[in-house]
Amino acid sequence: MDPKIRKLSSNETPPMDLLLLADPNESIVRAYWDRAECYILESEKSEVLGVYVLLKTRPGTYEIINVAVKETEQGKGFGKKLVLHAISQAKENGIHSLEIGTGNAGIGQLSLYQKCGFRITGIDFDFFTKNYPEPIYENGILCRDMIRMSLDL
Ligand code: COA
Repeated sequence: MDPKIRKLSSNETPPMDLLLLADPNESIVRAYWDRAECYILESEKSEVLGVYVLLKTRPGTYEIINVAVKETEQGKGFGKKLVLHAISQAKENGIHSLEIGTGNAGIGQLSLYQKCGFRITGIDFDFFTKNYPEPIYENGILCRDMIRMSLDL
């Protein structure tokens, strides 16, 4: 059976290993956790294969603040399934704008989000170098800037 996406209830433990794949700073994850809605992609055997987190940032606007797929399960379409689910969830909740941000070095993420309809709306220069204690490298590129993207629903 195909893995299914469901909302994590507030008494369930956050899938921290997966959440930290997208954001290596646990204190940032903990800071948004109480205000966020978390959805998990679960296998038939109740193994968590993927996750995304939605946060209402302004009236009518949600941000996908975390999306991650277990390393061994990447490249199988699950990331796209999660992002498309977030889009339909936001639409169902009457949201008119969905936002997401990713590092300048996240080639795969930039590809995935644009394939799901997101457009680049801005750049937070030096976001990662200012907010993270350790340098982050992806695809051999130093992650310095946050690329802000948005989708009108
Ligand atoms: N270059 C070009 N395209 C790429 C790519 C790359 N390096 N990586 C993925 N893509 C494309 C795929 O080809 C696919 O396109 P298609 O639907 O036309 O085939 C699309 O992106 C989605 O691929 P998918 O298999 O659904 O992605 P995934 O399951 O591997 O999940 C992430 C993508 C980003 C969620 C996953 O890699 C991940 O968890 N990374 C670590 C955490 C992270 O960085 N999260 C994002 C924080 S901003």
